[in-house]
Amino acid sequence: MYNIILLNEVDSTNNYANHLIMSEAAEEGTVVLTRYQKMGRGYATNAWESAAGKNLLASIIFYPHFLPAKDQFMLSKVVSLGLYDFASKETADVKIKWPNDLLVDNKKLAGILIENSVKGPNLESVVAGIGINLNQTVFLSDAPNPVSLKQFTGKEYDVQEVCKTVTERVFSWYEELRKGNYSKIDLAYINQLYRHEEWTLFKKGDDRFEARILGIGEFGQLITEDRSNRIRTFMFKEVEMIL
Ligand code: BTN
Repeated sequence: MYNIILLNEVDSTNNYANHLIMSEAAEEGTVVLTRYQKMGRGYATNAWESAAGKNLLASIIFYPHFLPAKDQFMLSKVVSLGLYDFASKETADVKIKWPNDLLVDNKKLAGILIENSVKGPNLESVVAGIGINLNQTVFLSDAPNPVSLKQFTGKEYDVQEVCKTVTERVFSWYEELRKGNYSKIDLAYINQLYRHEEWTLFKKGDDRFEARILGIGEFGQLITEDRSNRIRTFMFKEVEMIL
């Protein structure tokens, strides 16, 4: 069902997975796992910090030819839910922060970097890069509020075991997507959404405002209502939540 390629060191597992796709050398369910990334990538131009051998650094390859490109945020939900299933068995207070960060106790446990390619109206291939902080207890970069599972549970995690569990959980939600069970996925995602329906401080450029999250639009946009009952919709990274 899936196949894990373990690398000692690589620039970025997402880059490696993209090369496998380009050279038609990987089936769906191929997972690239590494101990260390020399150039781990976060969203936009951010780097992703991870000490060697401590954390999960992996990229999963999908060929979701059945999925219309306009529904690509569904796959982002699927991956977030897979990570949520794993983390919430280990510790309490796990939440999914829109669009796809995992928070525990308001701190960042995991990030996801999804890269898509589209062919005609549907998705052709997707690389879902996953970074979960497992055993690292000191973080050097200025990334906001990083935290690891070990800091909550005191346990030492076997990275390869976690990789298998997370991949299984992600593919279980992917099957729901393949079956077209959008509403089941939407409901699970909204139930775990960080600050859903709570008053929250947001930042958009120099503007700061209070709003509550009403829900997620059909293309994955954040739908909010502010103090003057104005409904505002935001695309990814157009707005930032102030934690
Ligand atoms: C974020 O900024 O929150 C996304 C972080 C994604 C990090 C993971 S680690 C494995 C994969 N390879 C990368 O270079 N990035 C992703």
